[in-house]
Amino acid sequence: MPLIRVSKPWEIPDPQITSETSFLNRRRFMTNLIGAGVTASLLPLTGCQSSGDSSKTALDKGSTQAYSGLTRNSNFAKVDRAITDEALATKYNNFYEYGGTKSIWQAAQAMPTENWKVEVAGLVKNPRTYDIDDLQKKFPIEERVYRFRCVEAWAMVVPWVGFPMKLLVADVEPQSNAKFVRFTSFYDPKITPGPGLMSQFYPWPYTEGMRIEEMANDLAFFATGLYGRQLPKQNGAPLRQVIPWKYGFKGAKSIVKIEFLEKQPATFWNTIGPNEYAFEANVNPNKPHPRWSQASERIVGPGNSWSWETRPTLPYNGYGEYVASLYS
Ligand code: MTE
Repeated sequence: MPLIRVSKPWEIPDPQITSETSFLNRRRFMTNLIGAGVTASLLPLTGCQSSGDSSKTALDKGSTQAYSGLTRNSNFAKVDRAITDEALATKYNNFYEYGGTKSIWQAAQAMPTENWKVEVAGLVKNPRTYDIDDLQKKFPIEERVYRFRCVEAWAMVVPWVGFPMKLLVADVEPQSNAKFVRFTSFYDPKITPGPGLMSQFYPWPYTEGMRIEEMANDLAFFATGLYGRQLPKQNGAPLRQVIPWKYGFKGAKSIVKIEFLEKQPATFWNTIGPNEYAFEANVNPNKPHPRWSQASERIVGPGNSWSWETRPTLPYNGYGEYVASLYS
């Protein structure tokens, strides 16, 4: 299992370029680690683990409700490889609230998704709290087939169901000083125990963030389902981010809050390992992770990961024509 190298305190970014809250969060995280005598080399954390036999995964089909009358968006209907087997995509997961292994799907059934609300707050003209059912009636639901690329160099192809993030952006009308957006996942230590003893050192709740222009890009998607069904809990029910040109950790699961902010927010993995999990985190074959290459990726399939097909990584995960201009 790869180990995260936690930065030395003097490597923490200057608070001038982060918000005060983000700086204080980071400092608290480091202080907790040092106070507990935990050194970087002892932290058994990974962004995405890729080991394990994923073939022992019988799918309990029908566990979530199927969408009716679903239309696949023809602009996002095909990629250069087969759609990942549903049994793999729904039984080979990362959800640290429920453990640090891939096999969390049963534990994740504890997520209380009934009467789910999503609060949209911060620098918007229309702050509001959406009920998840209303959200799915308000915005037209469609299917999109996207490549999905984990920072640890495994990849899938998933048919997501949901709606473009830009529709929600238009609905809440960001104020002119809003530059960033923070997404917060559900967290309650009684329900989301985390990965064992080390959980106390994680900067819960899981948060992610992006620039407002990225959120308004046509590709940025809120998923409410996959494979024609409502999202299973292990995949982030009832609402998660899907940003196909970025590494998978950028997509927060089980979102309860969306905030429009002026300053770049602190985020979960970037707080834990700023040199390993960048805020921007665009898929880039030419930018190696400090501890491994990103030049190629392994396509998740049956059997052990060493037997999976390998392919060259594509810049922006193959979505450069949509997003490269955001970074020029
Ligand atoms: N969201 C939350 N709340 N907690 C997590 O641990 N893991 C991230 C991302 N979103 C994670 C999360 C990582 S590292 C990956 S690769 C993807 O979810 C995995 O999504 P999947 O299980 O649907 O494949």
